[in-house]
Amino acid sequence: MIGPFTKSLNTKLITLFIIISVVSIAATGILSLKAAEDALRERIDAQLQNEAKYRASLIENIWSLRVEQVQLLASSQQVKNILKESYKKIVQGVINTQELEKTIPPSIEDSNFYDLKIINKDGKVISATNSSLIGKDLSQNPNFLRGIREASYSIEKDEKTRKAVMIVTAPVFDDVGNSQEIGAIQATREINLVNKITTDRTNLGKTGETYLVNRDELMITESRFIPNAVFTQKVDTLPVKECFENGRNLSGIYSTYLKTPGNLGQYTMGKAGIVYNDYRGIPVFGASYCDRDLGFVLLAEIDASELYSPLLELQNQYLIIGSLISLGVGILSFFVVRTISRPLINLTHAVEKISQGDFTMDIKEPTSKDEIGRLHHSFRIMISSLRQSIEQIQKLNSELKIVNEKLRLKDKLKDEFISIASHELKNPVQPILGFAYLAKKGKIPHDEAWDGVLQHARRLKRLAIDILDVSKIESGTLDYKFTKVHLNQVIRNVAESLRVNLSPGVNMEVYLDQKDPEIYADIERITQVLENIIENAIKFTKQGSIKIQSQSHPDKVDIVITDTGGGIPQDILPNLFGKFVTQSVKDGMEHGTGLGLFITKEIITAHKGQITAYNNKVGGATFTVTLPINNYANQKS
Ligand SMILES: Nc1ncnc2c1ncn2[C@@H]1O[C@H](COP(=O)(O)OP(=O)(O)OP(=O)(O)O)[C@@H](O)[C@H]1O
Ligand SMILES: [Mg+2]
Repeated sequence: MIGPFTKSLNTKLITLFIIISVVSIAATGILSLKAAEDALRERIDAQLQNEAKYRASLIENIWSLRVEQVQLLASSQQVKNILKESYKKIVQGVINTQELEKTIPPSIEDSNFYDLKIINKDGKVISATNSSLIGKDLSQNPNFLRGIREASYSIEKDEKTRKAVMIVTAPVFDDVGNSQEIGAIQATREINLVNKITTDRTNLGKTGETYLVNRDELMITESRFIPNAVFTQKVDTLPVKECFENGRNLSGIYSTYLKTPGNLGQYTMGKAGIVYNDYRGIPVFGASYCDRDLGFVLLAEIDASELYSPLLELQNQYLIIGSLISLGVGILSFFVVRTISRPLINLTHAVEKISQGDFTMDIKEPTSKDEIGRLHHSFRIMISSLRQSIEQIQKLNSELKIVNEKLRLKDKLKDEFISIASHELKNPVQPILGFAYLAKKGKIPHDEAWDGVLQHARRLKRLAIDILDVSKIESGTLDYKFTKVHLNQVIRNVAESLRVNLSPGVNMEVYLDQKDPEIYADIERITQVLENIIENAIKFTKQGSIKIQSQSHPDKVDIVITDTGGGIPQDILPNLFGKFVTQSVKDGMEHGTGLGLFITKEIITAHKGQITAYNNKVGGATFTVTLPINNYANQKS
């Protein structure tokens, strides 16, 4: 199937329901029609057989009565006397029927026989109601030849009236107990009563008829449909042949028999009865009563169309009712199927959206608790956990992006750091080589050379230490050894060790708080911090003074270093504590690598402290380091 049948579940299910209903209705219809047809056939077959049998037996009785009547006449003394006398006297004359009738028993009086003939045993008519027949030789007449031996009759056509008549011939015996025939008596009569019997349409429906056919396959009673059919209408139909060829009746049982002999294809068979074409060529349903000995077959037939008309009506009713039921089933199944398939369709839409990466749709809580409802419910749960997972993944992804970005930046900074650091490292090497070379060539005194070499070697060492510190800070591996430290002592030591570097004319004053607070710190790193700041002050101050003071507070201690140098260049002030931020200062010495304050800030931060810097209004710069006093809890081991 193509098109909508492959696409829509609804269409498929509705089509299926309609097909099932149509098929079951059709099957029921066909079976009931078949059953109805069988029942109808059985009933009509039985009815027709009854009619055929009943009417035929009536006719047989009438006809045997007629024969008996003539036999009675033949046995009358008067007839015998006439014959005897004719032999004795060879009297010829008109038979006095009045006289004869006197001898006829009362039962034959109204029998309507006419054309009586008394025939001697040589076949000569010796007496007749029709005088013109007297003397006629009937010795070859088949009726006479049969009738002289035993009472018999034949149904023949009266040429004058063109009607069927019954000619009865009975032998006349000479005496009672003596079987010697002395002649015969022959009487003719119309068969009106038989016609009455056959044309009676009781129990034959609208189109039924019964009629007699003789062994010459000619109709001998009147046809309901064709005028003047008697002895003119040929009836060579199936039941007639069956009667005269095989001596069988046509009946319900006949259908079984039909299967054996060949050439009967034009007849249709049923369980009961049989449909065949009658003498008019019209399909009829019929039964027969065959009396081959008496030479007639009685047919009882009804038009097949009449038999089938109630079936057709039933069939039409089935069609109408079936169509209505199918329509009803279609409408009902539409609603039922919609209820069943709606959650499935919703699920399908949801799955389609999910397959396109859309998890935003809202799947409603299922209304039913059946398998589809449970599927719906599980699907809802699955989607919501999937949604959560996806959100989590998205969150992680964005975090990862940020981390990645940071890493990239770090990587970039690292590259920069390496390139700057390696460049910076090269700087002090060149003058060392220069001093060594000049001393070797004897161009400068050795002491001067040693001083130069030492100065730059120290710088190189300092640079190497700074770079190592920076790389430790970057990788988070800069370790601290926290111990209790008396800050005044540390400040004093640093100040005194650096005093030697002061420019000529610059003095350094140290004012320490009496309280001499004890803090928890890495003494070497705090020393490094103070060296950095005081070295800078010395480096960038060519005149005036450098003031170092500590101020103790309950929870912190401030170390303030103020100088009267050139001040921090404005353009580096905002990023003063960054890496490689360095610039020469007016009237000061050359700037260094720019790592000092970066390391300083990191160390102070690790001590939970703060560092600030600003330029003094009167000139010079002030650096303030604040360290917490009770920072034991934040110690690092
Ligand atoms: N007391 C100060 N007066 C004026 N400028 C200062 C002072 N201290 C620092 N600076 C400025 O801040 C810059 C950064 O100082 P930092 O100590 O980080 O680097 P550096 O002294 O130049 O080099 P390094 O310390 O690595 O040898 C200096 O180059 C200088 O321009
Ligand atoms: Mg410095």
